[in-house]
Order: sequence, then C-alpha cells, then structure tokens
Amino acid sequence: MERVIIRGVGSYVPECILSNADLEGMVDTTGEWIVTRTGIESRRICLDTEMASDLGCEAARRALENANISVCDVDLIVVATVTPDMRFPATACIVQEKLGGTDIPCFDVNAVCSGFIYALDVARNFLLNNSKMKNVLVIGTEKMSSIVDWEDRSTCVLFGDGAGAVVLSRDTDENSDAGILDVLIGADGNLWRLLRCPIQSPGGNVGNISEEGYFIKMEGREVFKEAIKRMCSVAEDVLQRNNLTIDDVACVIPHQANMRIISAIADRLKIPKEKMFVNLQHTGNTSAASIPIAIDEALQNGKIQPDDLVLTIAFGGGMTWGAALIHWK
Ligand code: UT7
Repeated sequence: MERVIIRGVGSYVPECILSNADLEGMVDTTGEWIVTRTGIESRRICLDTEMASDLGCEAARRALENANISVCDVDLIVVATVTPDMRFPATACIVQEKLGGTDIPCFDVNAVCSGFIYALDVARNFLLNNSKMKNVLVIGTEKMSSIVDWEDRSTCVLFGDGAGAVVLSRDTDENSDAGILDVLIGADGNLWRLLRCPIQSPGGNVGNISEEGYFIKMEGREVFKEAIKRMCSVAEDVLQRNNLTIDDVACVIPHQANMRIISAIADRLKIPKEKMFVNLQHTGNTSAASIPIAIDEALQNGKIQPDDLVLTIAFGGGMTWGAALIHWK
C-alpha cells in the first residue's frame, strides 16, 4: 500500500520578541493575567517589511535541507495562511519564487488555525492519487501581527508570527509501516461569527460587520468552549476509526492557543502531561503555523522518536477542526 511520510521538517520565527511586559505598556493588561489565563509569556513579531512569504520561505528552506532535497525536487507547494502577502497571487507562488523554483503548482489553503492539518490532508491526497508526484512542500505561515487590533487587550496578547514547513514524500521502503495513517477534518460554518477578520470591500461585509474594522474579533469564551469540545471529539474519532487508543500515542501536538485549553483536553482524554507537547509560552498562537512549529520543536527536543505514533489536533475560525495520526519514520 502507498504510504506518505513526513520526510523533512523546518520552522522559522522572526527575531523580534514581544514580551508580556512590553504589552503592559501598550494595553490595560498585566503579565500575570496573560500567563494565568493563557500560559503565554512572549511571542515573536515580524518587522513591517517581513511578510508571511519570507517566514514561510525560511521554514521551507530548512525543511528541504532536513529532507535532503532541493526545490527542484518539489512537485507541489501548499501554503496554509490567513495572512497572505496579498489578496492574490497565492503566497505559495511568492514562496516558490523566493525558493528559486520554477513551474511548480502552487496554491493557498485558508482554514485559519486548522489550516496546516487541512493542507496536510490535501497534500497527502495529491501524493496518493498522482503517481507522478514525489515530494510536496506543506507550509503554515502567519504574520498575525498584521491583523491584530493592538488596542484590543482581549486578543492582542494572544497571537504571534512564525512559520513551519514539512516535506511530504511517498515512501517505498518495504520494511517500514511509517507514514501519515489518517487525517480527519471538519467545520461548522454556522459558527463563523465567533472568530473573524473582515476584509475591506466596497459592497460592505456579510452580516454588516464592516464598521467594526478589519482586525481579528473573537468571542473568547465561546471559542474556548468550542475548541475543547471539537479538539477532544476529533481526536477520539480519528483514534477510534483506526482502532487505536490514546495509550498507543507517544506524543500529542495540539494547536497552541491557550494552556488552559490544552490542559482541559489532556484531562478529558486522559493524556499524561509528558505526552502533551506545549511551546506556546514563547510562540503565542501562530494560527496555521502553530502545529508545524511545534512538530519541529518536539523533534529537536527529542519528544518525537522514530517509530512513534504522533497525534496532532487543531481548531480554528470557521469554526474548523482537524486531526492527523502519524506513524513517525
Ligand atoms: O486559535 C483559535 C482558537 N482561539 C482560542 O482558542 C482562544 C479561545 N479563548 C481564550 O483563550 C480565552 O477566552 C481568552 C484567553 C481569550 C480570554 O480568557 P477568559 O478566561 O475567557 O477571559 P474573559 O474573556 O472571560 O475575560 C475575563 C476578564 C474580563 O473582565 P471582566 O468582564 O470580568 O471585568 C475581560 O475584560 O478579563 C478581562 N480581560 C483582560 N484583563 C487583563 C480580557 N483580556 C484581558 C487582558 N488583560 N489582556
């Protein structure tokens, strides 16, 4: 049976650190409130001139190097982002140019914080259904600082910028079972209003919400409850349909939005703390970049080992959710 493996991983965050102490000087908040309510201590922020394509390109370079291939070997680039450089072209095309590639199909996916899992599913299906494709670059990249309302204390303390990338390849090793075992994605469009960022449009916005500005708006408590509910159920569903239990999983990589959400999921699914990977202390919520950045850090910290079963779980605006089960190569 054809198997698709993650052959290389890379990530990149901008140099500039925005600490909770810095935010105390910007809005009516305290470092203590931010840490106790979210677990976040600092986040990385782009320079004005640094775009999502720059972060994504650097993460991709590192993933290609890790996979020991060059951009010439890439058959498709999929970028997950809600902060594209432009309305069009796709950020994936701009990344292709920055990587020095030519003639590679490119497109973006928007599933907000679940974007990476959606893109992973799309990329995996391309590989499984098109025998001419060998390697696909999947990138999650976000410049969330460009859509944050820096006067809204209820959201501006949450987000950060960064990018993560993976190279997916078809594996031909007959002695291995490694690969992406399954990906499950879902969405409830009836809940889109809970987390949104309108775009400027001469015709006005759906729901007449254009007057609220063109920044992130979130009904925090509702999103919080929905995030726990959906991430628990998608994790349970993907395990169940593969006849696995949480005891089979060596490492869980949840979307890095809030430490209290991650702890609630760990409690409900009875996941021991040491299996739950957390890096939001120094990244904040990087939306579609959150999971690939966390995968890269987990690998570097030795939290993911060859042959491990890894479960990633995402949730975001839409509302969208997703989970991937990966038998690590
Ligand atoms: O990535 C997509 C998914 N996103 C998420 O998962 C985020 C989900 N939501 C959350 O993480 C949490 O709802 C927040 C961290 C956003 C907020 O935490 P909360 O415990 O739900 O707080 P709250 O919104 O209920 O606000 C509690 C109080 C309010 O004051 P009053 O009404 O009790 O007087 C807020 O005005 O905290 C106040 N508050 C703040 N105080 C200091 C809100 N933001 C701040 C702040 N500093 N930054």
